[in-house]
Amino acid sequence: MRDLQTVLIIARSGPEWAAIADTLSDQYDYRVLSADSVENARASLADAQVDIALVEYGEGKGLKFLVDLRVSHPDVIRILALEAKTEIGQREMAPAGIYQLIRKPLDANQIGLMVERGLEARELARRHRLLTREFKFPANATGIHARPILPMQPESRRFEKLVYVSEKLHNLSELARKAAKTELPILIQGATGTGKELLARAIHYNSGRRDSPLLVQNCGGMSDELLQSELFGHKRGAFTGAVSDRLGLFRAADRGTVFLDEISEVSSSFQVSLLRFLQEGEVKPLGSDKIVTSNVRIIAASNRPLRALVAAGKFRQDLYFRLRGFELEVPSLSDRREDIPVLAEFFAAKHSEAMGRKILGISAAVLEKLSAYDFPGNVRELENEIRRMVSLTEEGEYVTTTHMSPAILAAPPRSRFKSAGGYELRGTTLKEKVECLEKQVVAEVLSRHRWNQSKAANELGLSRVGLSNKIKRYSLDEAE
Ligand SMILES: Nc1ncnc2c1ncn2[C@@H]1O[C@H](COP(=O)(O)OP(=O)(O)OP(=O)(O)O)[C@@H](O)[C@H]1O
Ligand SMILES: [Mg+2]
Repeated sequence: MRDLQTVLIIARSGPEWAAIADTLSDQYDYRVLSADSVENARASLADAQVDIALVEYGEGKGLKFLVDLRVSHPDVIRILALEAKTEIGQREMAPAGIYQLIRKPLDANQIGLMVERGLEARELARRHRLLTREFKFPANATGIHARPILPMQPESRRFEKLVYVSEKLHNLSELARKAAKTELPILIQGATGTGKELLARAIHYNSGRRDSPLLVQNCGGMSDELLQSELFGHKRGAFTGAVSDRLGLFRAADRGTVFLDEISEVSSSFQVSLLRFLQEGEVKPLGSDKIVTSNVRIIAASNRPLRALVAAGKFRQDLYFRLRGFELEVPSLSDRREDIPVLAEFFAAKHSEAMGRKILGISAAVLEKLSAYDFPGNVRELENEIRRMVSLTEEGEYVTTTHMSPAILAAPPRSRFKSAGGYELRGTTLKEKVECLEKQVVAEVLSRHRWNQSKAANELGLSRVGLSNKIKRYSLDEAE
């Protein structure tokens, strides 16, 4: 599945723009996102991959927005629409780097063709950049900064803001695209920093709900009362401190999506309220006896596996079944190491641009070191490391190992680190090494069989009791 090219229209809503949006999506097959304010446009840009922005002048606000856009998203093609009589000079427009200026009355077909040509031009420029890079033309004429030899990078793929090359993330993105088109709740699981929230946002922008709000609630560390009032709303005076009515996220996001982060952390009584909402779509604000309905799609995320919490009696099974209309598991970065170099390059470009610092790239030695490290904090940790390294790199230089944090620098090279079929061998004595290996083999087989112990014991050639002894001995835990 290929991404549709996306046009973001930023204009006061009205029939003229609605007709243009229809033409662009029905006849030209673009995905159209509409925003009626600069704030909404920023939210769309943060989550969705936008290719072209079509902006109404709006007393200068639109132009100002385009100037900012040029800095924050230089790849987005910028088109400005003006009223027939608005006077505007070249000097005023220059900082926005506008691709085309159009005047009202607007012609949908003219805009369609302009968008097509604009995207073609951008694609040509992109290919030119790639070729220049592959041929490693020195960045300056003297060639002093010729890039250290780098293995050729595969071209990265994208699902909105998610960048990857691994098959694992590719398959996950394909499944997420399909899930997005349905109305079912989605449960996203994975370790911290793997990109669960980014995936949730991508799903919202690929669903039919993309023109309605996506609202986020973190459920961790909140009292029941507070969470209840955040999500379901309250009437004035419902509790001390409730000085006015509050709508609640479920109603504020009507026709949109609510992302419930850290869902594993909600109390058992809150689980009941949530289940009722999922079953009936009914919202009863605190302190009110009126029941209202709301149509929202729930995406929930957890970095603790809910299945294990259900097994341990800490999470309601019926709620778990409701939430996982689709169950998406984001793999840890160490399980998809091929993503490390492309992510590193992507973050280096992103942060050097944000800091206004022109760096030449990342040295091969750095990429090798990064690829050997385990990243317990996953993509977030990688991004932080790159941001830090870029900030230490001088303008016009490469990011090199001298900029690296000691822990990552100390990671032993992969080839020596991993042996015995991809298992880690830690410890010094033979006994320690064998036990380390045994623990990993048992854990891996158990997890492959989703902790079905008979199947795992069978594969390992152990009795059920034998396996259960190993589980105890190595304190293996399904929740980990
Ligand atoms: N594939 C990716 N491409 C680009 N950026 C990514 C990717 N995965 C994660 N990130 C970035 O890494 C950071 C962490 O991602 P995110 O917040 O989505 O993780 P999370 O799984 O929700 O983490 P937590 O469990 O700690 O809440 C964000 O800055 C996000 O932009
Ligand atoms: Mg998160």
